Amino acid sequence: MIQSNKVISFTLAYRDKIGILSIYFPIYHNRYREIFMEKCIQIGLFGLGTVGKDLVNLLSNIQNPITENTGVPVKISKVVVANHKKNRGIDTSNFQIGTNPKLILDDNELDVVVELTGDKTFADSMITFCLNKGTPVVTANKALLAEKLRCLMQIARTTKTPFGFEASVGSGVPFLRFLRDGLSAERISEITGVLNSSTNLILDLMKEHKYDYSQALEVAKRKGYTESDPRLDVNGDDTAHKLCIVSGLSFNQEIPLDLLPIQGISGLSYRDLEVAEESGFGVKLIGHARINTSNLSAWVGPAFVPASHPLAAVSGIDNGLVITGRYTGRSFVQGKGAGSYNAALGVINDIIQIIQSRIQETGNFRYESRNPESSQKKTCFHPGGDNIEYVVRLENMVLIDEKTFLKKIFHEHHVNIAGLLNDFQKEASSGKTVYLKTEPCTWQQICSALNQLQFKTDNRIRVKVFRAL
Ligand SMILES: NC(=O)c1ccc[n+]([C@@H]2O[C@H](COP(=O)([O-])OP(=O)(O)OC[C@H]3O[C@@H](n4cnc5c(N)ncnc54)[C@H](OP(=O)(O)O)[C@@H]3O)[C@@H](O)[C@H]2O)c1
Repeated sequence: MIQSNKVISFTLAYRDKIGILSIYFPIYHNRYREIFMEKCIQIGLFGLGTVGKDLVNLLSNIQNPITENTGVPVKISKVVVANHKKNRGIDTSNFQIGTNPKLILDDNELDVVVELTGDKTFADSMITFCLNKGTPVVTANKALLAEKLRCLMQIARTTKTPFGFEASVGSGVPFLRFLRDGLSAERISEITGVLNSSTNLILDLMKEHKYDYSQALEVAKRKGYTESDPRLDVNGDDTAHKLCIVSGLSFNQEIPLDLLPIQGISGLSYRDLEVAEESGFGVKLIGHARINTSNLSAWVGPAFVPASHPLAAVSGIDNGLVITGRYTGRSFVQGKGAGSYNAALGVINDIIQIIQSRIQETGNFRYESRNPESSQKKTCFHPGGDNIEYVVRLENMVLIDEKTFLKKIFHEHHVNIAGLLNDFQKEASSGKTVYLKTEPCTWQQICSALNQLQFKTDNRIRVKVFRAL
């Protein structure tokens, strides 16, 4: 790369005075850049569903976001789908479309391959093949990355191949970019997020309209804010996938998905949200992970979030992520985390980064874990993790003396009751529900206390546990 200086002069007028300001701009004579700028970037796309179609639509104009940002023309030239005969409702005449993956895998002219199938096994082999071949890959496949992130990043690192997956968490909200670029020197100790838009909206609908869970779910479905099969969202799995990806990047340590305690929102009632609000909390579906020198702990579940916490204000279809670092303390990112259009924009952001890194010859664009070489850290995974406070909902507490009985069982399991969130006398006498808050204890302690309570009351007392942030 050869560098020279070009002088650009501006005429400045300030009050009656006129002056000349000269600025020296370094000009990089970059052969690679010139070659790159002359060609049209060719994209191979796996999957032409909800996100794939939005990507095609966004890139179909000559003035698309990639060309606007990089000056390089771009074109989706090949697409692979599962069912060739499906009516797509979009113009497919500008690219070759087929069902044989070789259409993309055998094409050495492709500059970037985008994977948007959602099929874990298929995506794994496609991405692995492309990265090994040295073809840059962008994917939004959170289910795959939750399990294979470090393995795929390792292949990308070894083969020095660009690999982007911004759209897998927070759709278009640049959570991962913030971790990668904004906090690259930081030691991250904790991440806590509202990472699923559908469930956040459902909880808001319950609170605002006094809906029960199923009513709110129906409304969210009607408004088009859930998947046709919302199970992955409401049972907490989608949040778990995203938590695994963010933790993988933050801690360079995989959370074993099969050991991660995951609770969804389906067991929640309007009364839970009401009691929370009366006590100065909001209820959110939270993904949380924390690391120290010896332990990594993580959980996903509905939690009581104090009104003063930044995540309490993350409403509707927004997502939010609080990142705690040793030096910078708490950072917070929030934005609209839903929608295929946003996800397509996240994919485009990665493609722009890949093109820019090639133009500037700055090296390969990749998301990297912190300390990628120190993957031999001896950190144990503790599901559920630390000593924290819990809120417990107890239904059918009909006898007044059950309060003493409860205290005794909790005490035996080293759980101390910090206080009640609603009026025990009033609620218990009419056989209603009691909410209590514990002092900090472990997940194992609270679970064994509650199991014992249910056993001793022949399962008459029904329980629900919330973590408290
Ligand atoms: N939807 C969102 O808002 C959103 C947001 C963030 C991230 N994501 C992620 O983005 C990815 C795509 O989501 P989507 O909602 O667009 O999915 P989708 O609507 O179900 O579309 C999937 C596409 O992939 C194709 N496909 C599936 N399995 C295939 C296989 N084995 N071989 C070849 N093609 C296959 C399908 O082909 P046919 O059309 O022929 O059936 C379809 O075109 C997923 O990983 C998802 O988690 C989605």
